[in-house]
Amino acid sequence: MALFSSKPKEAAPSLPVHVGIIMDGNGRWAKKRGLPRKAGHVEGAKTFRTIVRYCSEVGIKYLTVYAFSTENWKRPSDEVSALMKLFKSYLEEAITDFRDDNIVIRFIGDKSGFSPELQKLMDDNEECARDRSGMVLNIAMNYGSRDEIVRAVKSISRDVKSGALGEDDINAELISSRLYTAGQPDPDLIIRPSGEYRISNFMLWQSAYTEFVIMNKLWPDFKKSDLDEALAIYAQRSRRYGGV
Ligand code: IPE
Ligand code: IPE
Ligand code: MG
Repeated sequence: MALFSSKPKEAAPSLPVHVGIIMDGNGRWAKKRGLPRKAGHVEGAKTFRTIVRYCSEVGIKYLTVYAFSTENWKRPSDEVSALMKLFKSYLEEAITDFRDDNIVIRFIGDKSGFSPELQKLMDDNEECARDRSGMVLNIAMNYGSRDEIVRAVKSISRDVKSGALGEDDINAELISSRLYTAGQPDPDLIIRPSGEYRISNFMLWQSAYTEFVIMNKLWPDFKKSDLDEALAIYAQRSRRYGGV
């Protein structure tokens, strides 16, 4: 779709500032081809690279991709270990991968659930990209929004206990500032490929007024044109935030 296929000088008002993507459907993509589920994850990682770069090209300022949830550990151990291997090889090359695109890489989620080796790779990636000024890419790994909210509540409760905060200081802004996405705008648009109509513990607090676009495409099949389509659907929505 021509409207979104070239880099705008200034983001059009109808272009979302923050997009979230629930990268879903890798397993079904593989199953349809008689392949092991991990083959779907390998293919999904390719789509990830293409779509991240494309989001940056069209002028999205913040992109949050859901890569691994706090609930995904309950999958069969061979699938979890295949995913960890894939994350390792991906993070090794990611250090340079998005350099030319000036993309800032951040991880949201509980890093401590990963091996020390993976944690170091995540830290190194964040460190290398720290001075970049382009699109902010949040990669949600071992991310669960309920866990994120529980952490925020605990951190606020510690400050109330110590006297650093009073009960009257607790408001929506304070809670937002204790989430992994502190300082970032809430997502305007969340895209879920694979046709599932659910949020699966993704950005529960941040998505209070987010527009959802569900697409009947498995993530490994998701193309730039599908992102164009989601952006076009978003541009037609009327956001009222409870007003008229
Ligand atoms: C998303 O694809 C990748 C992860 C959750 C890690 P799935 O693996 O959930 O694929 P489906 O939903 O089973 O097809
Ligand atoms: C959500 O997908 C998590 C990621 C895409 C990383 P799931 O496949 O885990 O979600 P459910 O199980 O379909 O709700
Ligand atoms: Mg799934």
